[in-house]
Amino acid sequence: MKLAAICGSPHKGNTFEILGMLAQAHPEVDFKILMLSELDLKDCFGCYSCIDNGEESCPHQDDRDVIIEAMEAADGVIFASPTYARTVSALMKKFVERTSFLAHRPIFFGKSAMALAPCAGFGADLTCKYLTEHFTQYGFNFVPSVELMVARKTKNETDHNRSLALAAYEKLMGAIRSNEIIYPSLNQLVYFNIFKSISEWNKLKGWADHEFYHDKQDFYYDVKIPFWKKKMAKWISGRTIKKMKTESR
Ligand SMILES: Cc1cc2nc3c(=O)[nH]c(=O)nc-3n(C[C@H](O)[C@H](O)[C@H](O)COP(=O)(O)O)c2cc1C
Repeated sequence: MKLAAICGSPHKGNTFEILGMLAQAHPEVDFKILMLSELDLKDCFGCYSCIDNGEESCPHQDDRDVIIEAMEAADGVIFASPTYARTVSALMKKFVERTSFLAHRPIFFGKSAMALAPCAGFGADLTCKYLTEHFTQYGFNFVPSVELMVARKTKNETDHNRSLALAAYEKLMGAIRSNEIIYPSLNQLVYFNIFKSISEWNKLKGWADHEFYHDKQDFYYDVKIPFWKKKMAKWISGRTIKKMKTESR
């Protein structure tokens, strides 16, 4: 089994330590930790090139694709970020921005993922929510996240965190092994409809999305979707699409 852990901490501190502990827990797993701080990842210019013209047209030449390739090569991915100011670290946010085209054109279906966030008091839930919601849009199937309080680093606290992290890690490995068909949530269907719609009315500008969506019907992959769910998703997304169209006139 191959795992990639994307670590958004700017140093080898608590987040790295927890990932290291997970790596040691199952030496048979090929566990690769990618420290964003040690990779060359430039700030997003906001030029829309990756979204409109395809990811290869990004003006930056850096390690963005090294990270994406590591995620593609892995069976599962751990998105780990310390909680800084009640959300993900700036480094993790930069990674999110530089790979945002994957929210438009997701490729990670069939792969499991987990969010992990330490904090010193409060906010790890917000960090994990952000990571889970954003990277679900890339196609990942998320298992429950790990929110850890790393405050005094007493033996009790460390043991408690270790058992929480290990239990979540076991769930991640279970999800990878089970290989079950993932039925899209209502939220995922709504996002699909919205992105497909944008790709249709924006086809001259955003040909990369148009290319990606034009042969897709109800979802990104072939899966049985109950009639009521399809209808409901159409209704919810229809309201957002209508609003976007009216306001962009
Ligand atoms: C700039 C900064 C902002 C932080 N903001 C929060 C916060 O909002 N809530 C919290 O509980 N802890 C906060 N912390 C504490 C860290 O989340 C905590 O120490 C975490 O274990 C650090 O992980 P790291 O060693 O990988 O950086 C903050 C720490 C820093 C450096």
